[in-house]
Amino acid sequence: MPRTWFVTGANRGLGRAFTVAALAAGDIVVATARDPHAMSDLADERLTVLPLDVRDRDRVFATVDKAFEVTGRIDVLVNNAGYGLVGALEELTEDRIRDQMDTNFYGVLWVSQAALPHLRAQGSGHIVQISTVGAVGSLPLFGMYNASKWAMEGFSASLADEVRPFGIKVTLAQMGGFDTDWAKSSMKFAEGISAYSPVREAVLGMRDYPDMSVAPSTETSTEPTERVAENEWAEPAPEVAAAGLLQLVNDPNPPLRRIIGPGAHQMVAMALEARRQDYVSDPEFTWPAGSADS
Ligand SMILES: NC(=O)c1ccc[n+]([C@@H]2O[C@H](COP(=O)([O-])OP(=O)(O)OC[C@H]3O[C@@H](n4cnc5c(N)ncnc54)[C@H](OP(=O)(O)O)[C@@H]3O)[C@@H](O)[C@H]2O)c1
Repeated sequence: MPRTWFVTGANRGLGRAFTVAALAAGDIVVATARDPHAMSDLADERLTVLPLDVRDRDRVFATVDKAFEVTGRIDVLVNNAGYGLVGALEELTEDRIRDQMDTNFYGVLWVSQAALPHLRAQGSGHIVQISTVGAVGSLPLFGMYNASKWAMEGFSASLADEVRPFGIKVTLAQMGGFDTDWAKSSMKFAEGISAYSPVREAVLGMRDYPDMSVAPSTETSTEPTERVAENEWAEPAPEVAAAGLLQLVNDPNPPLRRIIGPGAHQMVAMALEARRQDYVSDPEFTWPAGSADS
């Protein structure tokens, strides 16, 4: 039996790779995108494309209802839509902060809420929240991105325990770096305060953020953000992430947390070790008997 998927932000990057991989596996996909025309090249009788901006709660509910109407059931729901906001805390405006939370946190929340009554009725389903190693650790200038994903992980971990009795599974897919538009054209930046230039230099390799008020032009628009990407090691293609996701959804007993991406395991280990070091000097803190660190 083919599975049925629902994927947000499916027009490019990881969402597109997930969609293509699911179709290649013989599955049925309801893909959503802010601009559905951006998916016209993927025309396939097993693919339904619906318009959706995940920040719009009413549209989310209507679109999820429509998806269940079209396909009858959803086996795998992938909350993928999201972007990275870059800026030191005091550099970020209320609008920028709210938009980051509206997309990465509330967007995932609304889609999850909208799907739950349907998933409970069918007595099954796997909700996969596309998270990041940045939801285990944190990075200067990425505080609001970190916060949006940490918050999303918080409710999702509770949700996993709430819905297990209904046969519904929840997994936080903690992605490492992949070569998408995430660190390029999708990234949004604060208005810089010069005092933070050394932090920018250290973290991003640039003393100033790209100017968000300048209209994109093919000549210059990607240049500053490409510099962000250049600072990172060669990142794997989104298809590598899709292979990891397929492995995850093929697992009959998927874990709550799954790290996907080369190098990502090391980043999670380092973040957890840093946290352990914070507690280790506390004489009242002891590791549970039997754990590796007891
Ligand atoms: N790539 C990485 O290294 C990496 C690492 C960790 C986690 N992630 C996470 O992976 C997910 C996908 O990112 P990506 O790497 O594929 O980046 P991407 O290439 O920039 O794609 C982002 C997708 O999200 C969509 N999106 C953004 N805001 C939306 C909104 N309000 N409503 C609906 N769709 C919206 C975009 O749609 P438009 O085309 O309309 O903008 C696009 O389809 C994100 O949640 C990201 O945080 C990525």
